[in-house]
Amino acid sequence: MVVFSRKSLMTLIPLVAALPSKRDSSPAILNSSYVNPHFQQSCDNVWSYSTDSFQYLLSLLNGTDSDFPTGWVGQNGWTNIAQWDYQQHSKLFYDQYKINETYYAYNPTGCYAYWHNPLADCYNDDAGWAALSSLEGYEAYGDPVFLAWAESVFEFVDGHGFIHQSDLDAGYLVDTKWPNTTLQATCNGQSMYGGVYWMNGAPMDPNQGGAGDPDVNAVSSGLFALLGAELCRITGDQVYCDRAYEAIQWIDRFLVRPDGLIYDHINGTSCEVKDWTFTYNAALYLGAYGVLGHITSNQTALDIAKQVAITSMNTPVWNTDQGVIFEGAGNVTQGNDAIGFKSVLIRNLHRISQWMDSDVQEAIRQYVNIQYWSLVNNDSNNPNMPIQYGRNWTGTYEVSTGQTMVAALDVLNALILNPQSAFPDTNVTNMPVIGI
Ligand SMILES: *[C@@H]1O[C@H](CO)[C@@H](O)[C@H](O)[C@H]1NC(C)=O
Ligand SMILES: *[C@@H]1O[C@H](CO)[C@@H](O)[C@H](O)[C@H]1NC(C)=O
Ligand SMILES: *[C@@H]1O[C@H](CO)[C@@H](O)[C@H](O)[C@H]1NC(C)=O
Ligand SMILES: *[C@@H]1O[C@H](CO)[C@@H](O)[C@H](O)[C@H]1NC(C)=O
Ligand SMILES: *[C@@H]1O[C@H](CO)[C@@H](O)[C@H](O)[C@H]1NC(C)=O
Ligand SMILES: *[C@@H]1O[C@H](CO)[C@@H](O)[C@H](O)[C@H]1NC(C)=O
Ligand SMILES: *[C@@H]1O[C@H](CO)[C@@H](O)[C@H](O)[C@H]1NC(C)=O
Ligand SMILES: *[C@@H]1O[C@H](CO)[C@@H](O)[C@H](O)[C@H]1NC(C)=O
Ligand SMILES: *[C@@H]1O[C@H](CO)[C@@H](O)[C@H](O)[C@H]1NC(C)=O
Ligand SMILES: *[C@@H]1O[C@H](CO)[C@@H](O)[C@H](O)[C@H]1NC(C)=O
Repeated sequence: MVVFSRKSLMTLIPLVAALPSKRDSSPAILNSSYVNPHFQQSCDNVWSYSTDSFQYLLSLLNGTDSDFPTGWVGQNGWTNIAQWDYQQHSKLFYDQYKINETYYAYNPTGCYAYWHNPLADCYNDDAGWAALSSLEGYEAYGDPVFLAWAESVFEFVDGHGFIHQSDLDAGYLVDTKWPNTTLQATCNGQSMYGGVYWMNGAPMDPNQGGAGDPDVNAVSSGLFALLGAELCRITGDQVYCDRAYEAIQWIDRFLVRPDGLIYDHINGTSCEVKDWTFTYNAALYLGAYGVLGHITSNQTALDIAKQVAITSMNTPVWNTDQGVIFEGAGNVTQGNDAIGFKSVLIRNLHRISQWMDSDVQEAIRQYVNIQYWSLVNNDSNNPNMPIQYGRNWTGTYEVSTGQTMVAALDVLNALILNPQSAFPDTNVTNMPVIGI
């Protein structure tokens, strides 16, 4: 193994500087102020540290005060774990995945006690995340039960969240038990058909707000659309694609900002739009359109996915001028749902990259590397051998939690977009894995 001393590292610098600048070949798609990092350690090292990061997260399942996330954040963690195995052609985490996904299928808490539908609680977005996790498990490990659970969530949300013509006629979501949340058939002259309620409205606990919650959200609709698109791709059943189009076209009618990013939700009673703008809403939208465009050979859909991808990678709403996502930054010792939003953007850029033109693929690859570069150098336990990652992707690192680990794993998975030639063929270990 070649280990560079500090002195030999110094002699290496002029050599690197003499190479043509990587920035010369930067794609025009990303802002010119963005950095263009390059790997300084081998691909094998990167996979090895990354495997340790996954192992580290799994180790948090152990102990009485388990820090492995539960609920939707946990389901995103299992998604990443299965995706790692799928991409690495391994079954390293199969046993643990199966144990915990099976456990979650029958213990999602909340409204499960009322509906008894695997993976479904009171929130249709939670059910969507869980179904996508189960689908990832099916792709990685092949167990038909994982596909069956995902299909059952699709049917469940179709019946307890998706707005059908019968709901518009009735003036409320027919299949929920409390018919007292008024639904406007049209808002701003546009039909509400196809939106997906955030909650499924079981009456088991009035404090859950279920049937009393009038919000129809981008996240529940986007997840349903993406789930439908993926089920359509995997099963070949066109019905899933049709429903997915209906849900995503509802988002088109109500929640697209002038710049193409996605607003958060609309109150189905008052028609009021909430203009919060998060990474994961744009992410699900571009992911669903990317898959639908590919499966149904729809160039319009692929172009929408491409435009939202480009806007997401360049918007100052959540990117620093170096290109690092700062959404969800905050007190690093505290949890917050938004910590895991940004990683959903990385996951969905990764998802659609294969169907994009080469200049967009190159931009996505570089954007992923920028996140990894910042995580490694400013938000990890050791830039030369990063295993644990923290909350603020822009730094600085103090501590990792199960939730911050889940978010970082999406970036580690997406590094597969780099060709082998992006990594130096050396055994260097005494410098940061990636630098500029
Ligand atoms: C949890 O602890 C047990 C017993 O020490 C060990 O066999 C298992 O591998 C650990 N699981 C994880 C995920 O670290
Ligand atoms: C993992 O599954 C076990 C049941 O086998 C359960 O006791 C534990 O709470 C689960 N942990 C998480 C974080 O889902
Ligand atoms: C809906 O109806 C139930 C039963 O009448 C009532 O308890 C609840 O407060 C109502 N919810 C709203 C938001 O009006
Ligand atoms: C939705 O709009 C209705 C009617 O204006 C209002 O009473 C209700 O408080 C709103 N709900 C939320 C969650 O904003
Ligand atoms: C392609 O997607 C666009 C945008 O949703 C839609 O308007 C159009 O009908 C779709 N075309 C087909 C053939 O599905
Ligand atoms: C990217 O460039 C555009 C146009 O110059 C600018 O408006 C935007 O703020 C830049 N984004 C970031 C994250 O720096
Ligand atoms: C994390 O980010 C927040 C928001 O930008 C900032 O207030 C905080 O100081 C950062 N924490 C650390 C440890 O850098
Ligand atoms: C961050 O949160 C911890 C734990 O809640 C708290 O003790 C600490 O004072 C907070 N730090 C800041 C800078 O607010
Ligand atoms: C790390 O943080 C410092 C100080 O905030 C900042 O100047 C630098 O650009 C950051 N580096 C990376 C790799 O994000
Ligand atoms: C890296 O190390 C491995 C194992 O020690 C060795 O087989 C390989 O030849 C080394 N590669 C280089 C480029 O030095």
